[in-house]
Amino acid sequence: EAALPAERPLAGRHVIVTSGPTHEPIDPVRYIANRSSGAQGSAIAAALLRLGARVTFVSGPAEAPPPEGARIVPVETAEQMRMAVEAALPADAAIFAAAVADWRVEGASGSKIKKREGALPDLRLVENPDILARIAGMAVGRPDLVVGFAAETDDVIANATAKRARKGCDWILANDVSPGTGIMGGTENAVTLITRDGSEEWPRMTKRAVAERLAQRLAEALGAGGES
Ligand code: CTP
Ligand code: CA
Repeated sequence: EAALPAERPLAGRHVIVTSGPTHEPIDPVRYIANRSSGAQGSAIAAALLRLGARVTFVSGPAEAPPPEGARIVPVETAEQMRMAVEAALPADAAIFAAAVADWRVEGASGSKIKKREGALPDLRLVENPDILARIAGMAVGRPDLVVGFAAETDDVIANATAKRARKGCDWILANDVSPGTGIMGGTENAVTLITRDGSEEWPRMTKRAVAERLAQRLAEALGAGGES
C-alpha cells in the first residue's frame, strides 16, 4: 500500500551514502584497510529509503548486506569512492559513513611481492583524497546537507568538533569506538550530533535507531519541497 506523503518526507530527494571500509592494494593479494562492518551505513541508507528518499549507496567491501532498494555502487579504493560520489551528484544531502583508508601505497605492485630473507618491502604511502572535505567545500552544486562521522578513541567531542569545522561539513556524528565500548562490529552505537550551533548527545541505542533518528533529522532540515 502506498504510504501517505507525510510518512515519506524525503520523497523526491536524492541522498548519497558512503559506507564500509576501503581497501588500498599493496599488491594483488595484500591491502591496507580500516576496520568497518558497514552496519551503520547500511542502516542509514535503509532508514532514508523508508522515508522515501532515492539513495545512491557507494560502498567499499563491507560485511553488512547493502540496503534493498538503493542504487548500489560497489568500490574498492578511496579514489574509486571519490569518483563514484562525484559521479552521483547532484544530491540534496550526502552522508559519509565510510571508513576511508587515509593512505594508499604509491605505485602498488601489479605482481605479488615475494618474501625475501632480511629484505622488507619499501612501501611509500601517499594520502588519499578527503571525499567528505571535497564535497563539503564545493563552491557550486554542494548538497544542502553534508554529514560526516568521527570515530574517535580520545577527546571524542573536542576532536569531532574540530573535525567538523576543518572539513566544512554541516553535521558530524561523533562516536567513541574505543575497544571495550563494543561499538566496532556491534549492533549498538552511542553518538553525539555536532552541528554549527552546538552538540547533542544521543543515548546509546541500536544502529538502526541511530539511523532512523538521523534520517528524521535530515528530513526536518531539508524541509518540504522535495517533489517540486
Ligand atoms: N572521510 C572521507 N574521505 C577520507 C577520509 C575521511 O570522506 N579520505 C570521511 C569519513 O567518511 C568520515 C569523516 O570523513 O565521515 C571523518 O573521517 P575520519 O577518518 O574520522 O577523519 P580524518 O580527517 O581522516 O582524521 P583522522 O583519521 O586522522 O582522525
Ligand atoms: Ca581517517
